[in-house]
Amino acid sequence: MTEPRPMTKEALLSAYAGESMAHMRYLIYAEVAEREGFPNVARLFRAIAFAEQIHARNHLRRLKDVMADEKITAGAPIGIGNTSQNLELAIMGEEFEINEMYPIYIEIAKKQGDKAAEISFYYALSAEKIHAELFKEAKKYVDQGKDWPLNGYIWICPICGHTYVGKEPPPKCPICGALGKDYVKF
Ligand code: FE2
Ligand code: FE2
Ligand code: FE2
Repeated sequence: MTEPRPMTKEALLSAYAGESMAHMRYLIYAEVAEREGFPNVARLFRAIAFAEQIHARNHLRRLKDVMADEKITAGAPIGIGNTSQNLELAIMGEEFEINEMYPIYIEIAKKQGDKAAEISFYYALSAEKIHAELFKEAKKYVDQGKDWPLNGYIWICPICGHTYVGKEPPPKCPICGALGKDYVKF
């Protein structure tokens, strides 16, 4: 693999930084949820934090031949509130990625013939759609003072970050085709 072209590289760097910050934010939001008595919401934040780590890792892998000190700019929701507010910030971040960032990044990678970057962005976009829905669902409960009802576990695909709720993982990842037995359980 060669170095990505400048525009694709810029998109990869920014996405890497955005995913890294989301990972950290969700771990911090998990601590708040735990403290406020929402253990299932805390678990959801931890599981999705892991999915964001996978996205960051995939983007960084595509950048592995860039041996340089880079200055990276990425948009990110800032702030720590209560769990309801943190879920709102999380939804905001996910929706930005779904509606603005990844569709454009995918087009850049496509135009520049960078299949690896395109796949990395596509994996992230597909998982973020599920994240936004799960956070919205959790917020409905938290806004009534209740924990998010979790029947089973949260499962994360270690290849693409696909996020699934159930007693067992899906037999196969619908995004990347990984086997269910490889999913990580939260
Ligand atoms: Fe992500
Ligand atoms: Fe996400
Ligand atoms: Fe997957």
